[in-house]
Amino acid sequence: MGGFSESMALFERARKVVPGGIPGHQNPMLLVPGQSPCFIERAEGCRFRDVDGNEYIDYMCAYGPMILGYNHPKVEAAVRAQMAKGNLFNLPSPLWVDLAERMVDLIPTADWAVFGKNGSDAVNYAVVVARAHTGRKTIIMAEGAYHGIGSWCTPSTAGIIPEDRAAVLRFEYNDAAGLKALLDTRGDDAAAVVITPFRHEMFHDQEMAHEAFLDVLRGACRDEGPLLIIDDVRAGFRLHMGGSAEYLGLKPHLSCFSKAMGNGYPISSCVGVEALRESAGQVFFTGSFFTSAVPLAASLATIEEMLKTRALEHIFRVGDQLRQGLLNQAREVGMAINLTGPATIPFMTFAGDDDFARITTFCARAYQEGVFFHPYHNWFVSAAHTEADIEETLVKTKKAFEETAEIFG
Ligand SMILES: Cc1ncc(COP(=O)(O)O)c(C=O)c1O
Repeated sequence: MGGFSESMALFERARKVVPGGIPGHQNPMLLVPGQSPCFIERAEGCRFRDVDGNEYIDYMCAYGPMILGYNHPKVEAAVRAQMAKGNLFNLPSPLWVDLAERMVDLIPTADWAVFGKNGSDAVNYAVVVARAHTGRKTIIMAEGAYHGIGSWCTPSTAGIIPEDRAAVLRFEYNDAAGLKALLDTRGDDAAAVVITPFRHEMFHDQEMAHEAFLDVLRGACRDEGPLLIIDDVRAGFRLHMGGSAEYLGLKPHLSCFSKAMGNGYPISSCVGVEALRESAGQVFFTGSFFTSAVPLAASLATIEEMLKTRALEHIFRVGDQLRQGLLNQAREVGMAINLTGPATIPFMTFAGDDDFARITTFCARAYQEGVFFHPYHNWFVSAAHTEADIEETLVKTKKAFEETAEIFG
C-alpha cells in the first residue's frame, strides 16, 4: 500500500474552497484521519482504486447505493441507451411510468409512487403527506435515527431553530413500552411514526426490531393517524425485494426508498397506500431534476437484475461468509467483537471500545491491506462480492485483527 499523499494534498485543496473540505458523511475525518484515503479515482465490481493508486475490496458500496457493484454492465448499458435519447426534458419520459408501475408491482403496500433524487426528498415528502392527510402536526421518530437533512430531523442543530423541532417527539428504538406510552399520551396529535426497519445509526451497534416493538406499531398506526412511515432509504432491497416492511411483517402507509434503487444513479421514491393517494397528490413535490430519465433507466435495470439473478440471496450468503469469518478471526486473537445487523448490512464493533480506538486501529490496518470498512458507520455488501472476494478479504482482515490484538490484547 503506497500511502495517501495525493489524497491528503487534494483534501487540503478542498479545505480551502469547500467548508470542512468534504461536507457530511463522506468527510474522511470520519474514517481514520491521515490513515485512510480521501478521494477515489475509479471503481469496478466490489473494488475501487484511490487517487494514490491503492486498491481496496469495498464494504461501503458508496454508503449503500452500489448494490450490484460499481460500473455494472447491465445498468450502464441501460444508462447509455437512455443517454443517447437524452436525460432531462420538459416533461417526463415514459420510464417515469414504467418505474412507478414497477414499484407498485414490487412493493405490496404501494398503490402509487413518486420519485425524487435523494433519500431526504422522499422522507420529507412522506412527512408532509402524513400531515396533509391527517391534519395533525406531530412526527414521532426514534432517538438518534437518521432520516436525512430535513430541518425536522437532521442530526446537527447548527442553523436549526426550535420551531423546526417543535412538532417532533422521540422514543428509544425497540423500547416497546416507551413507544406505547408516548402513543397513548400523544398519539392523537401524531401525524406519523417514522421508523427505520432496524436501528442503524452511526457509532452504535445495530439492532433488529423486536417483535414487541413491532406489535406496538401494528396496534397503534391507522389510516386516520398516526400513520406508519418506513424509512427504507438505507435498507430498502437489502432485506427484501418487497421492501423491509415485508421482512418485518409491517404494513406501512408510506415507504421511502433511495440508495439501492438505481445502483449509483440519483433516484428516490416514496410509495404509499390507496387511502393516501389523494393527499399525496395535493402535496407540492417537485425538483428541477426529479424527472431525469437516466436514473429511471438505471433503476429499472437495477431492479430487474436484482430479481433475475436473485441477487439478494447471494448478498445474504456472502455477507454471512464475511460475518462468520470475522467472528472466527476475532475469537482466534482473543478479542470480543459485536457483529450486528443483517448480513447484507453488517457492522462490527469491539466490546468495551468506548473511545473507538480498537475499531479505528482495525480499519486503519485493513486499509493498509486493501480492505475498506468504516469504523463508525454500518457496512454494505454487494452482489459483486464473490465467495473468493470474501476469502481474500479474510486473509487481509486476519492481519488487521492480529495487529489490533497486539496493540490492545
Ligand atoms: C435511513 C436514511 N434515511 C434518509 C437518508 C437520507 O438520504 P440522502 O442522503 O440520500 O438524502 C439516509 C442516508 O443515509 C438514510 O440512511
